[in-house]
Amino acid sequence: MKRLTEFGLTEFDDLADPTFSQAVIDWQRVHGRHSLPWQNTRDAYRVWLSEIMLQQTQVAAVLGYYARFLERFPTVHDLASAPIEDVMAHWSGLGYYTRARNLHACAVRVVNEYGGEFPADPALLADLPGIGRSTAAAITAFSNGTRAAILDGNVKRVFARVFGVEGYPGEKRIEDALWRRADALLPEESMEAYTQGLMDLGATLCTRSKPDCPRCPLQARCVAYATGRTEELPVRKPKKTTPEKRADMLVVLHDGHVLLEQRPASGIWGGLLSLPEVDGHVGIETARDGGIALAAAVQAFGEVEEVQALLPLVHVFTHYKLHMAPHKVLLAARAVTPERHVWVRLDGIEDAALPAPVKKLLIDLARPSLFA
Ligand code: ADE
Ligand code: SF4
Repeated sequence: MKRLTEFGLTEFDDLADPTFSQAVIDWQRVHGRHSLPWQNTRDAYRVWLSEIMLQQTQVAAVLGYYARFLERFPTVHDLASAPIEDVMAHWSGLGYYTRARNLHACAVRVVNEYGGEFPADPALLADLPGIGRSTAAAITAFSNGTRAAILDGNVKRVFARVFGVEGYPGEKRIEDALWRRADALLPEESMEAYTQGLMDLGATLCTRSKPDCPRCPLQARCVAYATGRTEELPVRKPKKTTPEKRADMLVVLHDGHVLLEQRPASGIWGGLLSLPEVDGHVGIETARDGGIALAAAVQAFGEVEEVQALLPLVHVFTHYKLHMAPHKVLLAARAVTPERHVWVRLDGIEDAALPAPVKKLLIDLARPSLFA
């Protein structure tokens, strides 16, 4: 369906497709859930209570709580005037207890600000405690048939698969795009069946693992199904990229000894002996031909005979990845040993108090061929 606005066709219209909602509605009427205790009522209080309980919690776990809760708090007035301890006691075991605190606060506001009637406008509902945009839409769709789009975790998964959405749905840009689709796909009528149908599809067929595509009314239009990517979509939360650092390390050698430096007490490898490091970045190119930065750094240790860049090694810490770039420096003669530095015999390096990756580097280096 395309609608003209004063600006011409909007992006909204490009996403519209009435056959989508029709497929969901037709399926819901035959295969969806019809006798859950919060269905077949337009009582906004009951619908609201169910939607809050069903946030992050499955239907089977909610059923008993819902019944006991309504028995104790039959109306929003009963809930608003109850002590919070009483509300918490009836929520105990359902988890995510912020929901219970918000539930009570919301009931108080509905009584005080709206005379006990939940507002019919989803935007006003979404301003109340514990009610987000998707929950507000679900409440008004079920209690009034209002055209408002839901987009909870299940619906995101269905949309991401059907439309082959590339990108993590938790990312703002992707989530915004999903909301535009959700808005554009709303049917003109049958909002209850459509909204319940999306929820039922996500909960019963288009499950996170092993979706039941053969039974799915959206299969013929599903990008994930067509391309065999139901396991890859929706895209999972990207792992945080670990920061990478580079340390140019000097392997200063003379007469079967290597020069080691005691590290400052605080910081990484605090207090251990390690290879002296060159401040700042020494490009491999510069280092390979005994570049200026390196030359300046090594002169303090003695008369330099040869400088050679060795293959970099990677060491992974919990918080970052360290690229260790060793530079072999052969001395013809030693200068006075600088403060906090010591010469250690290479053939006793196994016993030195060195960080593990540095010790490994030196042991690998100490293989006779390299020091022939
Ligand atoms: N999850 C969230 N709302 C729901 C509803 N109305 N029915 C079933 N599952 C749901
Ligand atoms: Fe989900 Fe499969 Fe249906 Fe696609 S065809 S929406 S993956 S159940």
